[in-house]
Amino acid sequence: MGAGNNTVDEIKSRCNIVDVIGRVVPLKKAGSNYKGVCPFHNEKTPSFVVSETKQIYTCFGCGATGDVISFVQQYYQLEFIPAIEKLADEYGITIQRGFHKNENKEESYQINREAAKFFFKALRQSANPGYAYMKNRGITPEILNKFGIGYADDKWDSLYRYLTGLGFKKEKLLELGLISQSKGKYYDKFRDRVMFPIMNTSGKVIGFGGRIVGDGSPKYLNSQESSVFLKKNNLYGLNITRQEISKEDCAILVEGYMDVISLYQSGVRNVSASLGTALTENQAKMLKRYTDNVVLSYDADQAGIKAALRGLDILYGENCRVKVLHVSDGKDPDEFVKKNGKAAFLDLVAQALPYADYKLSLLRQEYDLDSTEGRVDFLKKAAEILRMLSPVEADIYIKKLAAETKISEGAIRLEITGNTSEKQAPERTAANRKGADAAPEDITMLEKNMIKLILRNSSYYPKLLPYENIAFTTVCGQSIYKGIKELYAEHEEIDVRKLADGLETNNAEILKNILENVRLAHKEEKIFADCLETIRMKELTQKEQELIMRLSMADEEENKEMIRELTQELMNIQKMMKNGRG
Ligand code: UTP
Ligand code: MN
Repeated sequence: MGAGNNTVDEIKSRCNIVDVIGRVVPLKKAGSNYKGVCPFHNEKTPSFVVSETKQIYTCFGCGATGDVISFVQQYYQLEFIPAIEKLADEYGITIQRGFHKNENKEESYQINREAAKFFFKALRQSANPGYAYMKNRGITPEILNKFGIGYADDKWDSLYRYLTGLGFKKEKLLELGLISQSKGKYYDKFRDRVMFPIMNTSGKVIGFGGRIVGDGSPKYLNSQESSVFLKKNNLYGLNITRQEISKEDCAILVEGYMDVISLYQSGVRNVSASLGTALTENQAKMLKRYTDNVVLSYDADQAGIKAALRGLDILYGENCRVKVLHVSDGKDPDEFVKKNGKAAFLDLVAQALPYADYKLSLLRQEYDLDSTEGRVDFLKKAAEILRMLSPVEADIYIKKLAAETKISEGAIRLEITGNTSEKQAPERTAANRKGADAAPEDITMLEKNMIKLILRNSSYYPKLLPYENIAFTTVCGQSIYKGIKELYAEHEEIDVRKLADGLETNNAEILKNILENVRLAHKEEKIFADCLETIRMKELTQKEQELIMRLSMADEEENKEMIRELTQELMNIQKMMKNGRG
């Protein structure tokens, strides 16, 4: 295969970078450029800028930069040629012959491969501490082979001499982090360590992790980042386990090299490791190529829990179904499975807690649920979690929490849908995060949902009309509603552009935000029902307040009969509120 330089030029001139990137990263015009949330690192405020005139992208947060081809490479994890082929294919461009590959990278892979072979042999040729160590940890020769595990001896320059002897330049070895330089002398970076080659999903060796034999520091030494080794874009073991992950339609994500190897040996083969760093969106996207189901099985310590919580949100943000497994015996999955075996580990997998359950279980530990105060505080925090869920999912948890805390479903629902200004549903995906940043307005979620419903389908307008006073309570909500009302009177189909034109700038902005970010997800009827429920709860609350007020003003002696009636009414209302809907 080959592609001429003409092809590269043609691709660059025909594939508009704004178009290519815009398909996967929501971009917004900002001055002469476009702006979005960087797909290569985690951020809330967009700092990823695409220039249409220059045809380049730059992230001011993480420094990622390049042209349309490097974007496709980085985003889809492709080599140069496959990236070109992908673009050419999508834009109907014919690839020309006579193209030379990106030799730089090819050589890096070749060097890493030679190094891996060198370490591999060293672990097997004669007695050595590396082999003894792994044997002592119970790893079989078969698994050592499967993962290509090797040994770096303690001689200071074995690898350096071997690779330079093969004709590779020391600059290149330095760049790959295989050797170090000090006072003009070169020496091996990895000495007396068990070597774990890290491969990408094409089976190319991109780096190494070296474990000290026995105790010592650092426990693991890893290859430095290089053009071929970007830690955040890779998952350990995936080259070996991805078929199994597809087949099981589930990935078990662990922290360490040894967890992957040990689980694999025990027969749990759908595993991969994020290598002790926080999971990135790119890694989540990689997993998603093989499955939507991920079980996080991090270490049982505080650091592991923290990493799991972060990983949860990243995976959830990529629309994975994610669960968290708690290692009940031993500090990590490796120890657990060694002690208790495959079946016991699979039991843990079966008991793993789904996203919301896991978060709620951690929250529960923070509050005293026996006290009213504790339950109220717990529920307020819980509402923040439930707000992340789809209405259907949230409904299930609302019922559970109501039963658990003896607080009415209606009140919990109210806490979630929020009738207060600062509470807006946080949005799930990177695509929607933008909106959250740009909208500190005080319109309520109820108002937003109702406006969106009416604009989606104007038949909701007459249905909501009887509740307009109770439903639209903020200045902004009322203004937009007033606009809707006027347009509806003119013509029952509401022209959104006309509506926006008639509004003040800030209200028009808010309307735009509602249109872009409030999602009905084909659940209009359910959301409409939720709105009515919220309205009903608001009505009851208002009535309750009014009754309490009247009672407090009544004279105990003079108005005995009235007090009895009002108290009865108040009790009825409180009962209705407690029962929530229905
Ligand atoms: P762990 O300390 O849990 O390692 O760190 P482990 O895999 O269980 O190792 P063993 O069982 O003690 O041999 C998890 C991962 O964090 C990274 C490594 O990728 C490790 O597998 N790590 C840890 C480092 O990069 N450097 C370190 O010094 C420690
Ligand atoms: Mn371990």
